[in-house]
Amino acid sequence: MRSTPTPVSGSSARIEAWSGRQFAERVEDAMDIYARAMQYPQHAAAQRSVTARKHVSHEGFACRAAVLEQGALIGFGYGYTTLPGQWWHDLVRRALTPESAEDWLADAFELSELHVLPGFQGGGVGRRLLLELAGAIPHAAMLLSTPDADTRAFRLYHDLGFLDLRRHYLFPGDSRPFAVLGARLPLGTGG
Ligand SMILES: CC(C)(COP(=O)(O)OP(=O)(O)OC[C@H]1O[C@@H](n2cnc3c(N)ncnc32)[C@H](O)[C@@H]1OP(=O)(O)O)[C@@H](O)C(=O)NCCC(=O)NCCS
Repeated sequence: MRSTPTPVSGSSARIEAWSGRQFAERVEDAMDIYARAMQYPQHAAAQRSVTARKHVSHEGFACRAAVLEQGALIGFGYGYTTLPGQWWHDLVRRALTPESAEDWLADAFELSELHVLPGFQGGGVGRRLLLELAGAIPHAAMLLSTPDADTRAFRLYHDLGFLDLRRHYLFPGDSRPFAVLGARLPLGTGG
C-alpha cells in the first residue's frame, strides 16, 4: 500500500542495495516517486512501471533505495549495463560522434532513473544514492540523460564530475531537449 511519508529530513534515510526482485516488489512506489519528481501525470507512473519491471532482468542491473525508518521509500536510483539493441543505447550511439560512442559506450552503466520525492529533495539523498551506485558497479563509466536545463539534477551531475557528451538532443517521443552526460568510474577520475 502506498503511504505518504510525514515531512522528516531525508538525512535520516538509509540507503539500501536492492536486488531486482526487491525493486520489482516496490516498483509502484518507485514510479509514484518518478512521476511526482518529474511532474508527470500519474498515469505515467503506471506506464513506466511496466518498463521498469522489464529493466530488472537486464544484465548488470543495480539499484539503491533511500528508505525511512518505517520503510517508506523516498528515493531510488537504478540502471544496468548499456548494450547494443537497447533503445537508449542505440539512440545515444547515433547522438555521439563515432569516436565518442566507441570510447564511452564500450563498458558503461546506464543510470536509467534517479529520483527523490519532492519533499525530500535538496538534502543530499540523491547524491548519496548516486555515489553508492557508482561505487558498487564494475563498469568503466556511468552514462545518463537528463532534461537539458538548469536543474538540480544537472547541477548534481556536474558537481560529481559528469561531462557533457551531447547537449540539446531530442529523443523520439519527447519534445524537451536532453543532455547526455558521462563520468569515468570511480567518480572523480576525470574524463
Ligand atoms: C535530481 C535529484 C534526484 C537529486 O536528488 P536530491 O536529493 O534532490 O539532490 P541532493 O540534495 O543530493 O543534491 C542536489 C542539491 O542539494 C544540495 N545539497 C547536497 N547535500 C546537501 C545537504 N546535506 N544539505 C543541503 N543541501 C544539500 C546540493 O548542493 C544541490 O544543490 P543545488 O540545488 O543548489 O544544486 C532530485 O532532486 C530529483 O528527483 N529531482 C527531480 C527528478 C529529476 O530531475 N531526476 C533526475 C532525472 S535525470
